[in-house]
Amino acid sequence: MADTLKALITAEEIAARIAELGRQIRADHPDDTITVIAVLKGSFIFLADLVRAIPGNVRVEFLGVASYHGGTHSSGAVQITQDLRSEIRGQVCLLVEDIVDTGLTMDYLLRMLEVRGPKVLKLVSLLDKPSNRETSVPVDYVGFTIPDEFVVGYGLDLGELYRNLPYVAVYSP
Ligand code: PRP
Repeated sequence: MADTLKALITAEEIAARIAELGRQIRADHPDDTITVIAVLKGSFIFLADLVRAIPGNVRVEFLGVASYHGGTHSSGAVQITQDLRSEIRGQVCLLVEDIVDTGLTMDYLLRMLEVRGPKVLKLVSLLDKPSNRETSVPVDYVGFTIPDEFVVGYGLDLGELYRNLPYVAVYSP
């Protein structure tokens, strides 16, 4: 297993960047309760660290989405496997992703959520892979911009494995 994984972003680098993101997000919305919407499954570890880095009032919601279906390339088809439990009308919402790759998932989700009338709808992604974009997506907060490599770890999987790596690694078969 070890010879197929090469560390790209260390746990220490991730922690330092998330601390910055948390401060920046709160500074941009100093007085609001922020409804953090985690896009499952990949964002669950980023979510857990990010919400602890945002001071003040935060609500947490989960959105179940599948688009890769276990492979290494986007199918382009977005499937909602679990919807939000509450209304977001009038709320300051922050969609949390592990990675924006083709942008197709985010494009779909932003359209789907915008019609529900949030006061603000922003997007934070731990990783951004702009070289692979198929549609333009406004990523308000980016943790790290990465090259066109298949990455795993810190929530990101390959066939449901590697999510538990504490760092982000490039996977080469
Ligand atoms: C991954 C990732 C994003 C999406 C990004 O999800 O978590 O949701 O793909 O890709 P895109 O920009 O090309 O649309 P995946 O379908 O792998 O599901 P998972 O989060 O449950 O692992």
